Amino acid sequence: TELSKIRNFSIVAHIDHGKSTLADRLIQETGTVAGRDMKAQLLDSMDIERERGITIKANTVRIDYTADDGQNYVLNLIDTPGHVDFAYEVSRSMRAVEGSLLVVDSSQGVEAQTLANVYHAMEADHEIVPILNKIDLPASDCDRVAEQIEDVIGIEATGAIQVSAKTGQGIHETLEAIVTDLPAPTGTRDAPLKAMLVDSWYDSYLGVIVLVRIIDGELKKGMRVKFMSNDTLHSVDRIGVFRPEMETIDVLGPGEIGFLTASIKQVRDTRVGDTITNDRQGCETALDGFKPAQPVVFCGLFPVDSAEFEDLRGAIDKLALNDASFTFEMETSAALGFGFRCGFLGLLHLEVVRDRIEREYNIDLITTAPSVVYHVYMRDGTMVELHNPADMPDLTHVDHLEEPRIKATILVPDEYLGDVLKLCQDRRGLQMDLTYAGSRAMAVYDLPLNEVVFDFYDRLKSVTKGYASFDYQMTDYREDNLVKMSILVNDEPVDALSMMVHRDRADARGRAMVEKLKDLIPRHMFKIPIQAAIGGKVIARETLSALRKDVTAKCYGGDASRKRKLLDKQKKGKKKMRQFGKVDIPQEAFISALKMD
Ligand code: GTP
Repeated sequence: TELSKIRNFSIVAHIDHGKSTLADRLIQETGTVAGRDMKAQLLDSMDIERERGITIKANTVRIDYTADDGQNYVLNLIDTPGHVDFAYEVSRSMRAVEGSLLVVDSSQGVEAQTLANVYHAMEADHEIVPILNKIDLPASDCDRVAEQIEDVIGIEATGAIQVSAKTGQGIHETLEAIVTDLPAPTGTRDAPLKAMLVDSWYDSYLGVIVLVRIIDGELKKGMRVKFMSNDTLHSVDRIGVFRPEMETIDVLGPGEIGFLTASIKQVRDTRVGDTITNDRQGCETALDGFKPAQPVVFCGLFPVDSAEFEDLRGAIDKLALNDASFTFEMETSAALGFGFRCGFLGLLHLEVVRDRIEREYNIDLITTAPSVVYHVYMRDGTMVELHNPADMPDLTHVDHLEEPRIKATILVPDEYLGDVLKLCQDRRGLQMDLTYAGSRAMAVYDLPLNEVVFDFYDRLKSVTKGYASFDYQMTDYREDNLVKMSILVNDEPVDALSMMVHRDRADARGRAMVEKLKDLIPRHMFKIPIQAAIGGKVIARETLSALRKDVTAKCYGGDASRKRKLLDKQKKGKKKMRQFGKVDIPQEAFISALKMD
């Protein structure tokens, strides 16, 4: 296809503002899919994504469109993941296109994710077409939202296209705007191949499918190509495009977006942002900005039933085939037995993986407290990365610790602002900015990531009744007074409950933990001390008193069937317990004890 007839774009939106519905409409309006084949939300291919209303895997579709000027155009839409955890993937997808549709729900207004993603689009020098969606809703207020877009984002929005992705109103105008307002790509056909690896995923028939954007040169079937980040060579078996189902073609030229397969076994061998070129006489320089995926949040996943360990290994192996950003290694815990220490791009990523294991593989899991990666500077001048509080080196060798910080942007209706500021303060946040746009406030905070990983989202949602939106990016590592707090149950440390905390908060956290555990652990036949300690020093202590007598004792001599029932009931209760030393700790204790409120 001629460069002047190509338009490449993505859609930027906050969750639920209608990105998928709009994409579906564009596909439908251009007849790319016959009406009756049209499944709701074609682009969100995974069930779990649909259920949770989030888009994780980037997807793409090629649309043929005959514009009002009578010319035939090829429109390539790249669907970007909508969540903060995937910021790097979003930034790469944005580099693969020249423009964005900025979709804002005209009954809601601009949200934190709209902002985060629109900044990625601006960084990629996109031409941005503002679209006000859901104009069929009675609460739609286009003037107010257009003004807000101008105030908060700083782009002209008075002429924004008014759309209802539901009724189809404004869809034709949107297609015309894509053709007239977005620039055509540039590139040189008779140059060495230079293509960007935008995304990849595993397909059980074809192996790894690689989504590419051609910058210069041509990609042809049968070619030998090189992935520049790791110098691996591959023979291209197949190339094609998505309409949105796969269609094979012979050549992809400059400006085009499509896929290749090359008998690649693992998604891990294909890195988002990598440059693909010819194996010989390839392009001189790789595209800039490439970076390998870096997990930032770690936690342990253990099967509730230790007999399911092998099943868990199988599930994790399968998931990892399709998710290069997820890392894992085996872990043994005295409290929880065999499991895996897993690394994720963020909290949502963690939740998605955990849910898939539980639902698709039917394995009940115990998830230990998420932990960030600390930098531990040793006395001898070396630095070790600490992924698991249980591995904290002996303090006599440690010089100091640094923790990751984030810049968090929170958008919230005025009436909840006070609660949000308090929450951020409580989590050791430093206010960087506070601005107002209409009846909403935007607070920017510098926060330690470790104060956010556990239940910040939940707290934020609950103090704002769901009206706040939140987005963050990692900034840097900074030193602070951090210590490892251990929890001892019946005088034995429970490794899965140890955590890193700020020294000033350790006493309060320790007290809260032991009080909670006292409620969560059932009484036994003996007294159980529950303690929180830093180093050898106990900072909080509770004692769970002993049961007076055997629960079945009162049945002696009585009704035998009643006694059996009681024992059965106890056994059932046990299934969800983990025996630790002589003490049974229920599964939910590991999660609940770590929630702070
Ligand atoms: P993610 O994929 O989770 O990022 O969400 P999304 O932005 O793709 O939103 P989606 O298209 O799933 O739409 C969210 C909800 O809004 C769905 O229930 C849609 O049916 C509804 N919706 C989308 N567009 C319109 C519209 O123009 N009018 C009305 N009334 N509802 C709409």
